[in-house]
Amino acid sequence: MPKKRVLSGMQPSGLLHLGNLMGALDNWKKLQDEYDCYYFIADWHALTTQYADTSKMRAFIREMIIDWLAAGIDPEKSVIFQQSRLPEHAVLHVLLSMITPLPWLERVPTYKEKMEQVQDKDLHTYGFLGYPVLQAADILIYKADFVPVGIDQLPHLELTREIGRRFNSLYGGILAEPQPLLTQYPKLLGTDGRKMSKSYNNTINLSDSPGEITKKLMAMITDPARMRRQDPGNPDVCPLFALDRIFAPKEWCDYVDVECRRAGLGCVDDKKELLKRLLAYLKPIQDKRKELSADPGKIAGIIAEGSRKARALAQKTLAEVNEAMKL
Ligand code: TRP
Repeated sequence: MPKKRVLSGMQPSGLLHLGNLMGALDNWKKLQDEYDCYYFIADWHALTTQYADTSKMRAFIREMIIDWLAAGIDPEKSVIFQQSRLPEHAVLHVLLSMITPLPWLERVPTYKEKMEQVQDKDLHTYGFLGYPVLQAADILIYKADFVPVGIDQLPHLELTREIGRRFNSLYGGILAEPQPLLTQYPKLLGTDGRKMSKSYNNTINLSDSPGEITKKLMAMITDPARMRRQDPGNPDVCPLFALDRIFAPKEWCDYVDVECRRAGLGCVDDKKELLKRLLAYLKPIQDKRKELSADPGKIAGIIAEGSRKARALAQKTLAEVNEAMKL
């Protein structure tokens, strides 16, 4: 039995943080042994919102590949590539756009939400509306069996399946129906207690130095009602304790759960413990990051080679699509 194919992408819109690591990359890494994995940098998707300033694009792409490799995505096992190097994605996007009814796009929940939320950019563009059609092309061109994504991406995947079905019913069944592989990881909390996200500026990044991580963690919010050391705290509402639950052994969490509530343990004590654990956890990733950053030729080579491999497959599907559509 040939391995089933997995495909996923990420927009290069900044440095990756602990939430991306635990929520996506660790999962991608695990999938590598069981599946034929294709992971790509969705730089065209980033343009749908970042088109007005592309000055950091190259740096973001490079740093993102470094983050992936450092986190254990292995170019020997997975195909790592960059969307904009594959014109085939754009061609399939054009063809799919012919058969995608406008109302399907207008009712995608993220479309309206983002349009309302984002105030500093003009998102009334053709490209932004077509975001899910481009995503459908990304997925369908590899006939992916599975797409590991977070729950927020499910509407996009459902639309991909609908577009694929429509294509198949019009021109013959050549496109596969991808299934989501839901990443079951709770959202990590950031240093301010809100969801960890770069738009909140509350992240701990894989590329942060130990000094920066120390500063961020020591300034992290804990139970807001616990003002002084001698006040008893409530771990259930403490974002620091949420991180303990992930990075500390159960015995420590049980201990904190008791001692915090009777002011036996201070926030700073707990922070110091967590800091040790977090730095140890991130150390191999950061060492690998350093090594990779010193070797830009290697990163360029990996993207070139991965894009070449992906392209062979994309060209094959596109030839079938052209045949089916009599082009
Ligand atoms: N929309 C995805 C996100 O923002 C990125 C993406 C683009 C993607 N194309 C994809 C994810 C194809 C999975 C498959 O996270």
